[in-house]
Amino acid sequence: MFDFAPAANADKAALYDDLLSAADALTAGEPDAIANMANISALIWQFLPDLNWAGFYRMVGDELVLGPFQGRTACIRIPLGKGVCGTAAARRETQRVEDVHAFPGHIACDAASASEIVVPVIINGRVVAVFDLDSPTAARFEKADQTGLEALIARIGSRLA
Ligand code: SME
Repeated sequence: MFDFAPAANADKAALYDDLLSAADALTAGEPDAIANMANISALIWQFLPDLNWAGFYRMVGDELVLGPFQGRTACIRIPLGKGVCGTAAARRETQRVEDVHAFPGHIACDAASASEIVVPVIINGRVVAVFDLDSPTAARFEKADQTGLEALIARIGSRLA
């Protein structure tokens, strides 16, 4: 069992510091990317409030394929450049979307989703996956969330490939 309890009233930066340490400890020494994606999804799902989906799509060939996640069942394959996930993978940069209904080509897996953030996992110059978080609240993801999630993926990304 992994024991992790962030301070209940921590600010976002402190919460993400704690999550980064927890993610590092959870994946240290474990070479299986799928197992690590599963635990990171579960960690984020448990400790970040106001989410309705958290998980990974893996780059397989030239498209994204559903990986470990928490939340409702989701679409399985996303072509590069399509939706928020495919855009993050194609542009190789985080997509932080305050209103998914205003994002051209957004793929609605869960009608409840209102905002979304997708962070690409880039290893040795190659996009190997994207980490996707959805929220039922518009503009749920702030710059502090992007900074925290990008730092987390930078730390453990090599364990997701
Ligand atoms: N909304 C995403 C699809 C994946 S689901 O949110 C789980 C997109 O537009 O790429």
